[in-house]
Amino acid sequence: MTNKRFNWTIAAALVLTVALIPACRTGQVEADKAPKIEGAKYVGNQVCFDCHTNIHRTFPASTHARVRVADFDVKGGTSCESCHGPGSEHVRVGGGRGRFIVNPGRDPMACFNCHQEIHAQLRLPHHHPIVEGQMNCVQCHDPHGTDIFKPAGGLAFSRRDQSCAECHREQSRPRVFVHPALREGCTACHEPHGSVNDKLLVARDNNLCLRCHAQIASPTASVGSVSIGAMSHTQFLTRGTCWSAGCHTAVHGSNVDSKLRF
Ligand code: HEC
Ligand code: HEC
Ligand code: HEC
Ligand code: HEC
Ligand code: HEC
Ligand code: HEC
Ligand code: HEC
Repeated sequence: MTNKRFNWTIAAALVLTVALIPACRTGQVEADKAPKIEGAKYVGNQVCFDCHTNIHRTFPASTHARVRVADFDVKGGTSCESCHGPGSEHVRVGGGRGRFIVNPGRDPMACFNCHQEIHAQLRLPHHHPIVEGQMNCVQCHDPHGTDIFKPAGGLAFSRRDQSCAECHREQSRPRVFVHPALREGCTACHEPHGSVNDKLLVARDNNLCLRCHAQIASPTASVGSVSIGAMSHTQFLTRGTCWSAGCHTAVHGSNVDSKLRF
């Protein structure tokens, strides 16, 4: 029996290795996706590191460190330039702000070249106002850091959405009865970029809650009646959503009621 399980482990490891080989190559992107800079050529990360030493410290361990522009095999790779555009002109003039280099912190188009799906999400009816220029990707993402999901504040949320608390204090502040769903992070219920649903919700109806709170047929009551959390909800569910029907309005947490009613 143990032997059989052992073989399965090896088989699974092999399948995984084979599956990961193509994934490792996805770091290569076509040249037309990188930003263009008139008259400039690719010089490679190593040249950038000469002046931007602080970025050199964290970048090699970051998500985009293995991204490179196809057909430009320069020393150190082209990951810096895949976001900032080819750097020869910037380097020739000794660097400087606004000098022959793209800063995607000011213009997210540089990110959209490769992340078209995010661009599409930001055009949905409800979205964070990034395309409108009211906020930008780096308020939630750290492009050069070892962790692209930017941490901020010391709250006990999932690592990925601690940044939410910086702008949405009301939903993130400590409470006597915090909804334990928050431990899974804000993205358990909200899309970070955009959604077809109001309030960026991942689902517009009770399914939002029922993914975690099993709805079970009441064993004692009549056919068609349902219980959630060991309490009959048959009547309640006809009134509207769990949070809008005057029931669990304090969906993030409450200081007075453990059932998150107010
Ligand atoms: C000769 C030194 C030097 C080299 C080499 C260099 N830079 Fe710069 N760069 C600077 C200086 C100086 C600034 C001004 C801001 C600062 O002091 O950090 C700057 C600013 C920038 C900015 C901010 C631009 C803005 O408008 O806000 C970016 C982005 C940038 N560099 C990227 C790069 C990349 C990518 C490379 C490699 C292709 C590179 N730099 C190579 C010196 C250099
Ligand atoms: C994933 C895209 C991406 C990659 C890859 C990338 N950067 Fe950046 N870089 C950004 C963004 C976004 C900003 C704006 C950050 C901000 O405003 O806080 C930025 C800002 C900068 C700045 C200006 C910092 C300042 O003080 O305003 C420099 C310099 C820079 N990058 C250099 C580099 C170098 C060197 C590399 C490669 C080692 C690199 N970047 C790789 C996206 C990227
Ligand atoms: C030249 C193409 C390119 C550009 C430009 C680019 N990215 Fe990426 N990005 C990638 C690739 C490829 C991956 C997948 C890397 C991987 O799976 O290891 C990725 C992954 C990511 C991830 C997911 C990381 C994860 O662990 O799930 C985030 C977040 C991200 N990029 C944000 C940005 C932001 C913000 C910008 C602009 C500042 C940007 N990217 C610009 C190619 C790019
Ligand atoms: C309000 C905060 C926030 C902003 C602003 C933001 N992101 Fe994200 N992004 C997130 C979070 C949180 C995740 C992780 C989603 C998850 O794990 O479900 C994420 C995931 C991603 C991913 C991984 C793919 C995916 O769908 O999981 C990419 C790529 C990405 N973001 C790119 C961007 C780009 C490009 C911008 C700017 C145009 C941007 N993000 C702006 C919070 C943000
Ligand atoms: C840099 C500030 C900032 C950060 C960080 C941020 N947001 Fe937002 N958020 C905004 C702004 C601005 C709006 C648009 C408000 C408006 O249109 O009235 C918004 C809107 C929202 C809305 C919709 C509110 C409504 O009334 O429709 C939700 C939900 C939301 N954000 C959740 C999140 C989550 C989850 C995160 C973390 C992944 C996050 N936000 C990170 C600034 C931020
Ligand atoms: C259990 C699901 C759930 C989780 C987890 C969750 N939210 Fe919400 N959030 C909701 C619902 C449902 C609404 C809509 C409430 C309404 O319309 O009355 C909402 C509304 C919001 C709004 C809009 C508030 C308004 O008055 O318009 C913001 C901003 C927000 N949430 C931010 C966050 C942040 C930040 C986190 C993480 C700390 C988070 N949410 C976690 C379910 C959740
Ligand atoms: C990511 C999973 C998750 C989601 C989504 C979620 N919850 Fe929860 N919720 C929990 C956990 C875990 C608890 C604590 C254990 C329990 O009571 O089931 C909890 C507890 C509660 C409680 C307190 C129950 C009690 O008896 O004290 C209420 C009320 C509640 N949730 C309502 C909601 C509503 C309304 C929604 C949808 C807007 C929702 N939940 C979505 C995970 C979730």
